[in-house]
Amino acid sequence: MSTWLVTGGAGFIGSNFVLYMLRTYDDVRIVNLDALTYAGNLENLLSVQDNPRYTFVHADIRDAQAVADTLAAHDPDYVINFAAESHVDRSIANPGVFADTNVMGTVNLLNCCRAAWDDGTGGFGAHRYLQVGTDEVYGTLAIPEALNADGSPADPEHTDYFREDTPLSPHSPYSASKTSADLFVKAYHDTYGFPAVITRCSNNYGPYQFPEKLIPLMINNAIHHKPLPVYGDGLNVRDWLYVDDHCKAIDMVARDGRLGEVYNVGGHNERANIYIVKTIIQQVREVTGDEQVSEDLITYVQDRAGHDRRYGMAPDKIRAELGWYPQTPYEEGIVKTIRWYLDNPTWVEHVTSGAYQDYYERMYADK
Ligand code: NAD
Ligand code: TYD
Repeated sequence: MSTWLVTGGAGFIGSNFVLYMLRTYDDVRIVNLDALTYAGNLENLLSVQDNPRYTFVHADIRDAQAVADTLAAHDPDYVINFAAESHVDRSIANPGVFADTNVMGTVNLLNCCRAAWDDGTGGFGAHRYLQVGTDEVYGTLAIPEALNADGSPADPEHTDYFREDTPLSPHSPYSASKTSADLFVKAYHDTYGFPAVITRCSNNYGPYQFPEKLIPLMINNAIHHKPLPVYGDGLNVRDWLYVDDHCKAIDMVARDGRLGEVYNVGGHNERANIYIVKTIIQQVREVTGDEQVSEDLITYVQDRAGHDRRYGMAPDKIRAELGWYPQTPYEEGIVKTIRWYLDNPTWVEHVTSGAYQDYYERMYADK
């Protein structure tokens, strides 16, 4: 049996990771430490809540005592830090909490693990810490001259991508906080020999994603015939990865990645935002037969401040060293995701009631 402490395991990727690990392995125990912010939802984990290999701890990664107690009680072999404030638009509206949680929370977690894992001889035994990072730390790429109709590069051989040695150049408060966290993790490895590794992943999508992010927001709005708010000209490009492919990468890097290293995770699924929105419209209409779901719902709104133009990952290192590759093409993943949102109206209703309405008003009223 190995024990994995997952922070932020009630969020989108964290809960998918908990479910992935418990269904993939019989010899894995999961401890999920989560503060249950607006983004944390234990409904994601109803199917495992009675599993004897699963434990939930309601705590904040900034709380040194709670984290130390959890480490002492469960002695995890692995710590995977998902816990974060994760939405760029919220970071623009309120950057402070991003510094608190993403930077100071990570530093607290590192300090607690370092103290708990210290073997008295300057080593840390076989323990391993993985920091879940993002491609946004690299800043932005130019849009290539020649594009396919979906916004992907027509000539990938001669196109720029983010590599692990691309200079860090974050633009939003969110990406600045994630960059700082990565640098602390690297510093703890380089200074104390702390056994850490970092993954940096492109945009994820799939079940249980909170409908403030592009794909679930558009699916939910389309189903309800609400305007589909496209920022700017809709030609910004993101590199989309189905969440289970990310979970698999984290599992592989946590176990076998070289300590002190960064691994980029992405699937060469670059798409322009407007293409994503149009495929969602088309798929929702096809699945539901609802003719009112049409491109008339598309509404171009004021652009996001400091909006990064293009993200595109080169996942060559993780493929070469660990044999990871993405299994889910975008066209398959988007249909699975839309069906999931249609099949889970209660989940959607719960997360979009109350506070979500206030959020939506605040964020979109002036755009
Ligand atoms: P999310 O917002 O859905 O979930 C974040 C989770 O962290 C929630 O359960 C929340 O309750 C918890 N949390 C927040 N503050 C906390 C605190 N102080 N202490 C304990 N728990 C706290 O985020 P997500 O989309 O699942 O992202 C997870 C991680 O992956 C983040 O670190 C994010 O930066 C990174 N990431 C996300 C994407 C993406 O496309 N969503 C891509 C690359 C990397
Ligand atoms: P998002 O899902 O917020 O992820 P990130 O900004 O971290 O990449 O946004 C993805 C892209 O979609 C981004 O270019 C901004 C754009 N977008 C819209 O056009 N409209 C929206 O309502 C949202 C939330 C995002």
